[in-house]
Amino acid sequence: MGEGISDYTKFCVDLRRQMWMAGVETELRRLIWQIAVTGKYIFAKIHESNRKLAGFKNIFGEEQLALDKSSDQILKNQLQFSGFVREYASEEQDTVVRIGSGTEKYFVTADPLDGSSLVDTNLAIGTIIGIHNGSMMGVGKQTMVAALYITYGPLITMVYSAGKGAHEFVLNREGEYVLSQENIRLKDRGDIYSVGGLRKDWTPEHLRFVEFLEEQGYKLRYSGGFVPDINQILIKNGGIFTYPALKKSPAGKLRLLFELQPMAFLIEQAGGIATDGKTDILDIPVEDIGQRSPIYIGSRFEVEKAKAFLRAS
Ligand code: AHG
Ligand code: MN
Ligand code: MN
Repeated sequence: MGEGISDYTKFCVDLRRQMWMAGVETELRRLIWQIAVTGKYIFAKIHESNRKLAGFKNIFGEEQLALDKSSDQILKNQLQFSGFVREYASEEQDTVVRIGSGTEKYFVTADPLDGSSLVDTNLAIGTIIGIHNGSMMGVGKQTMVAALYITYGPLITMVYSAGKGAHEFVLNREGEYVLSQENIRLKDRGDIYSVGGLRKDWTPEHLRFVEFLEEQGYKLRYSGGFVPDINQILIKNGGIFTYPALKKSPAGKLRLLFELQPMAFLIEQAGGIATDGKTDILDIPVEDIGQRSPIYIGSRFEVEKAKAFLRAS
């Protein structure tokens, strides 16, 4: 057996081999691999993180933990020298950043650290990535070619899709991403719901939808971390996540470019749906990098039911 190749790799499929077998094109394979490896550096930073606020504010006006900024720097530096990325847009950058020579193939969007307010609670947090081959300021369905997220929890896992299904990998003790689930599929209907925003701020039609789910006996699973909350719906093969339009903020809270488009791409690849309540997330034109949108995402039955309740307003 080759030096340094662990039993896992010998007997299991690692990320590079799975992407090659799935027919993912070479440069995209290398970029996805590069980003997955960067997750290990971000995790290392989480481990040594100082929990003090950095005192910086991002364009969303939120207090930023040092970790948000350092995760963003780690990611940007890695992509800068990948040779495949022309531009980088991140939740932690005020504008789109040119990081290549201008001839590279891809644009990358990032929520470098999602759920940073959970760092001190030791709940799972994550990184969300979108990969585009056209301008990212357009319609996701036309520009996105891949998406991935990394969860930093009891295990480090990574779920990616390059348009040929959604697949989960676990980082093993040798630091290799080993395939744990290939072609994840959502059932038509699940039994969990994950709902953001305060009940008092929900619109009446959204409240009626949530009451329907509760009457149907759905179990509430909401951690406050978008990545683990979506990951749970994928790995449990069903259910719905929603962060709705609120009375005072009709666009809801989550960011279309950095959070919603990548998750919509992944959930659709697993046979689910992602909408703002009317329009598919990947059909919503991105006009501004800070654009927010309500989201209903998950199994077909629940999302279609949500749309019906919202139409009945
Ligand atoms: P981020 O840490 O990148 O700002 O994202 C936090 C988001 C998302 O992770 C989660 O779904 C949502 O905030 C939770 O919002 P509430 O605290 O209002 O529930
Ligand atoms: Mn986020
Ligand atoms: Mn974030």
